[in-house]
Amino acid sequence: MKRYDLIQMGVDYYPEHWEESMWEPDIRLMKETGVKVVRVAEFAWSRLEIAEGNCQFGWLDRALDLFHKYELQVVIGTPTATPPRWLTTKFPDVLPIFANGETFQPGVRGHRCYNSTSLREYGSRITQHLAEHYSEHPAVIGWQTDNEFGMLDCHCDACNIAFRNWVKAKYGNLDRVNAEWGTVVWSGEYSDWNELTVPLGGSPHQNPSFLLDYQRFQWDSVVAFQRTQIDILRSVCPQHFITHNFHSYPQRLDMYGVGADLDVAAFDYYPNTSPAKQATTPYSGALSLDVTRGIKRQNFWIMEQLSGSPGCWMPMWRTPYPGMIRAYAWQTIARGADTVVHFRWRSAVAGAEQFWHGLIDHSNVPGRRFAEFTQLCHEVNTLEEKLTGTTLKNEVAILHSHEEKAALDIQPQAEGFDYYENIKQIHRAVTKLGVGCDVIDLRQPLDGYKVVIAPNLYLLDEEIVRNLEDFALAGGTLLITNRSGVKTTNNIAVMQPLPGLLSYCTGVEVLEYDPIGAETHKVIDAEGNPYECTQWCDILRPVVASPIAWYGDDFYSGTPAVTVNDFGKGQVYYFGTHMEERFWSVLLERLSKQQGLFRFEGLPDGVQASVRSGDQGSFLFLLNLSRESVTVALPQEYNSLLNHSICSGELQLEPYGVEILEM
Ligand code: GAL
Ligand code: ZN
Repeated sequence: MKRYDLIQMGVDYYPEHWEESMWEPDIRLMKETGVKVVRVAEFAWSRLEIAEGNCQFGWLDRALDLFHKYELQVVIGTPTATPPRWLTTKFPDVLPIFANGETFQPGVRGHRCYNSTSLREYGSRITQHLAEHYSEHPAVIGWQTDNEFGMLDCHCDACNIAFRNWVKAKYGNLDRVNAEWGTVVWSGEYSDWNELTVPLGGSPHQNPSFLLDYQRFQWDSVVAFQRTQIDILRSVCPQHFITHNFHSYPQRLDMYGVGADLDVAAFDYYPNTSPAKQATTPYSGALSLDVTRGIKRQNFWIMEQLSGSPGCWMPMWRTPYPGMIRAYAWQTIARGADTVVHFRWRSAVAGAEQFWHGLIDHSNVPGRRFAEFTQLCHEVNTLEEKLTGTTLKNEVAILHSHEEKAALDIQPQAEGFDYYENIKQIHRAVTKLGVGCDVIDLRQPLDGYKVVIAPNLYLLDEEIVRNLEDFALAGGTLLITNRSGVKTTNNIAVMQPLPGLLSYCTGVEVLEYDPIGAETHKVIDAEGNPYECTQWCDILRPVVASPIAWYGDDFYSGTPAVTVNDFGKGQVYYFGTHMEERFWSVLLERLSKQQGLFRFEGLPDGVQASVRSGDQGSFLFLLNLSRESVTVALPQEYNSLLNHSICSGELQLEPYGVEILEM
């Protein structure tokens, strides 16, 4: 009954922004265009509850009835990201407090503390009313919780109390807190629970164990806040699905924790439209989509998708180049999106986001972008049956962790050292090779993968290490990079040679390290090819591992930079330095041959390949996410689903050209 796996198109629509007389013509046009889903109401609290307890759902009823009349399905957003003025006036505890003591004032959005009792109470009430009112509405299929959760670093009283309770639950007593955080340094010891507050003053140089736990506390606060809504929605509307629209990556959020309570994850996807970013945007976008698919290790939704020139939060970006809207929508489907909802139907004529453009401009005259969207809807609807139920099955995984990222952000390791950027580089190398890749939480089981890449495992515990070791022992190829095994999960440095708990499987010992930061140094591989490295140089002593590349300069010239160790039936690589992307490409290409990985070879720059498969067959997506036309050499004959022809040999892909080939 609950279905969120249909391949279909949607739009974000704000009935409350438009004269009611416009609704039906809009909705009729949606229907004619091929739109099947609409998301509504996620910011409409002041219209849904016009004063405390005074709910006015009549307007939304009329809108939903119209959607139903035109057979459109609706996802309702709970409106808690924008508490109305009557609420914040009466209950100022809804508003977050910044580290400097200032209040996050109403006027924009996101002005809500997740731990505020009033927010939770009134947020639950409006959610309950909406759920009860719409549980049987024939148009409604699902719910979006809030909008784009994110950290606020709130310093209000409620957060102080909640943090204290969180710490008590984790450590029990203050002696243990002092010991686990090492508060003895700089006389930071707590002797009374009331001394323990969230980090005041905003200095990034407070105790790093404390700062990391504060992040964890905030992640848990979001999960707990979301759960207040999930509990209501699950009990009142068990037949509906629940999702949340995740903000662009990287971001400070336990997306795995938030995702665990959802039926399906959703992502808001706004690839950069600038030609200057053309070389990187398609790849960072691919990573974002793979990260989203990894949240629940299943297909996902796009809840907001690029429709026009983004702006308002910054000077406007370029308008999407012809073909871009369509190609980026197909990219999301190629990487596991099922339903793609475009933001927004029409650009707002009022409010702060007037220039974050929708599919239709202020003039309300559908133009070039709308025509492209119409074509896209037609294509998606034609392929709905073939593609619904298909998924990606990848043999490579990159392990990701918001805890590693948080800890590395709390204590930057070297200039230019950025956890998520490092993942981006590796992911780009994999993607350019034409190899599919999952991006999953560090603690997930690794069965089914042949190659696992785990960059910068700065914080470690035995459980993570066992998972990795078991994978390699059973025959997997594991790639680990520098700054691994440095700390315990309490953010305390380990007193053993690095890579600490990973010394056994890597078979190397770090004798000393050199944070070279933005400097570029030399590395030579076994064939004598030169490469560049940056960020970090571990000076390594291979204990049982074999070097495969050596430093080419500085006082450690000639010593190993990258090693490999036979471990059980598998192999463990250790990168003592941050190698340039080309090194990864060469190594991963070799591994793909060694391991017999599925690969679409010979992709030109800017072209991405991925495969969705299921009972109906396997479908190869080829996307040219660039402004140049390119030629792709096809290894076999395929049936082109979009162009209804047989393709073989040289395939010409126009700028932003898309092919979906039946394998
Ligand atoms: C998203 C948000 C939308 C809209 C869009 C464009 O972050 O969820 O409401 O603001 O960005 O800025
Ligand atoms: Zn707070």
